[in-house]
Amino acid sequence: MKSFLKKIYKFSFPYSFYKFNPYYTHFFSQKNLSFILHILRLFFARLLNIFFFPPQFRYTKFFLKNGFYKTHLKKNEYIQNLYEYLDTKIAYDDIQKKDICLLTNFTSSKVAASADSQIHVSIIPEKIMEEVDDYLRKNKKFNNIILNYFKCDYRIVNLRLWRYLSNHKKKLNSNVGYHYDSFPHKTLKIMAYKGIFSKKNPAIDFGSAITHKIEHSITGKDPIFIFDSNHLYHKADFPIKDRDTIEIVIQPTIFKKTPLHGGYGAGYPLNPFKKNFRNQIN
Ligand SMILES: [Fe+2]
Repeated sequence: MKSFLKKIYKFSFPYSFYKFNPYYTHFFSQKNLSFILHILRLFFARLLNIFFFPPQFRYTKFFLKNGFYKTHLKKNEYIQNLYEYLDTKIAYDDIQKKDICLLTNFTSSKVAASADSQIHVSIIPEKIMEEVDDYLRKNKKFNNIILNYFKCDYRIVNLRLWRYLSNHKKKLNSNVGYHYDSFPHKTLKIMAYKGIFSKKNPAIDFGSAITHKIEHSITGKDPIFIFDSNHLYHKADFPIKDRDTIEIVIQPTIFKKTPLHGGYGAGYPLNPFKKNFRNQIN
C-alpha cells in the first residue's frame, strides 16, 4: 500500500524542485482518446521489454531526478550541420509560409504555425531525418537517458529547425511565455540552441508553476539538452540576438523506428497504432 501511494506521489510530482504539476491536472481533465491510445502503446511496449533494465549512469540519475540533462555541442558534432542547413534555407527564402501538416494522422497547432517571431524550415529531407536518428542512437548519454525513461525503444516523431527572432523593434507578439507541453504521457524533447547564453540572456528557463520564479536557466555555449517538457514549466523570452533552434520530439515505440517529420506546426501522431502517410501539398 505504502509503495502504491509512493508511486502515485512520484507520478504527480516527479521532480524534486517541482511543487505543483499543471500537467497532472491536464492529464486527468482530458477525455482525449489519443492520450489513451499512447498509454496503451506504452503499456504494450513495456510488456515486451519487461526485463529491460538499461544501466544508469550519473547523468541518467540526474535526468530522472530533475527532468532534464544539459550538455554542450562540440564544434564538429553532427547537429551543427543542421544550423548550417537552417541558415541556407533562410538565405534562399525557402521557409514555411503556409499553415500545413505534412503527415496524416497527426496533431497540429495553429498557434505554433502563426507565431510571428519564428522562421521555420518547411520540409526536412528523409536523409537528414535518418542522420538525426543515427546521431541520437549513437549518442551514449541521450540514448541511455531515453531508454531509461521509456524502458522500451523510441522513435523521433518530429523535428523542427527554426530561428527565434529578437524583438529589438518591439513589433513582435509571440513571446514564448510559461507553459508545459501537452504531449501524450512519456514524450521527451531534445532542444539545441546556437550561441552563447547567460542568466540575463537564457536559452530557456524552467520555473515554479506557483510563484513563476525561475528555478533553472539553460546557459553556456551551444547548449543541447533533453527534457520532460510535459512536466517542467518552461518559457523562452525573446532572445537578445536572433537564435537558431533545433527541436526533436521523441516517443516510445513498439516496432516502428523510422523517424517522422510532421512539419513545423505539427505535434505527434494522433493514433500511434495507425500509419502516417504524406499529405498531398500543393
Ligand atoms: Fe514548450
